[in-house]
Amino acid sequence: MRTIETEYLTPADIDRAAALIAAGEIVAFATETVYGLGADSLNPTAIEKVFRAKGRPSNNPLIVHVHDASELERVVSQIPPIAKPWMDQLWPGPLTIVMPKHSSVPTAVSAGLETVGVRVPNHDFARELIRRSGQPIAAPSANRSGKPSATTWQAVAEDLDGWIAAIVCDDPSAIGLESTVVDATVDPPTILRQGGITLEQLRSITPSVIVLDGSVPRETAASPGLLHRHYQPNAKIQLLTSIDDHRDPILQASADKGLRMAYIGLQPPHGNSWEMVHVCQTIEQYAAQLFDFFRQADRTGIDVICCQVPPSPGIGAAIQDRLRRAAQT
Ligand code: TXA
Ligand code: MG
Repeated sequence: MRTIETEYLTPADIDRAAALIAAGEIVAFATETVYGLGADSLNPTAIEKVFRAKGRPSNNPLIVHVHDASELERVVSQIPPIAKPWMDQLWPGPLTIVMPKHSSVPTAVSAGLETVGVRVPNHDFARELIRRSGQPIAAPSANRSGKPSATTWQAVAEDLDGWIAAIVCDDPSAIGLESTVVDATVDPPTILRQGGITLEQLRSITPSVIVLDGSVPRETAASPGLLHRHYQPNAKIQLLTSIDDHRDPILQASADKGLRMAYIGLQPPHGNSWEMVHVCQTIEQYAAQLFDFFRQADRTGIDVICCQVPPSPGIGAAIQDRLRRAAQT
């Protein structure tokens, strides 16, 4: 139930935002990946509020954000040696590193795991907010659980007005997809979620890094977040592996039934059955605009969103992952 009068702040109100977090309240703020729903990570009552506001299953752990790697000791018990060059070369940035958890971090944050995912965001406001709040900040993506992540403050408001103390109204998130999550506690080190740091970037530092095999039975997935529905707009998602898939019988049937259709991809689509079309100039733009396009389509009342599957190098792998999961029924 929506019960709180949400404050709409600007980046100039940073002290107000930091004071709310220090007082155990929830504040949404921009990061370079997506907007986050920030809470004092060492305060179990605040953490409970985050799970409630998101409607998030309690077995899905939260990422802890610190303003500088020197703060790591507050949340991890040991830094695995393999993670050191990643921290040096890729932080601040869209890389979450799973490490052994410090006992001061409430078990609710790690969803009962002995590990904790940590990152230093590459976003000046976010880092300064964490610094001024005086605590490491737990922040899941600022959307209701299961929905596309919020990449604008308006998207946060759509999902969470009345659920959280404040939203800091900032620019849209530049990357538009979440951080890469890599587990440094296993051998070989394993990417649990592809994201803003590419496999190629990690492998250039540590060639042995692998990507979690999607064929692993769901119950035993190493990252509990992978078990849940994610990134899903109200519209049905249809993946187009080739631009000529518009001749696909299912799509044709949708158009024939008078369903309202949208398209997003790197090339212009064929045909004229589209009510909304968004052609991205680069793969980075595709990443940055995907979730916002899903939300725009929902606001317009679109029934089916057709998404061209991009090539997999670089950020393309993360887009492919989000598209596959958005399309899951
Ligand atoms: O870009 C991001 O990572 C954004 C911004 C706000 O930083 N945050 C974000 O948080 O996407 P969330 O809660 O929506 O996704 C966190 C993911 C989940 O898939 C979760 O299962 C995984 O990280 N995760 C967190 N802690 C973990 C741990 N200790 N072990 C394995 N997976 C973990
Ligand atoms: Mg999320």
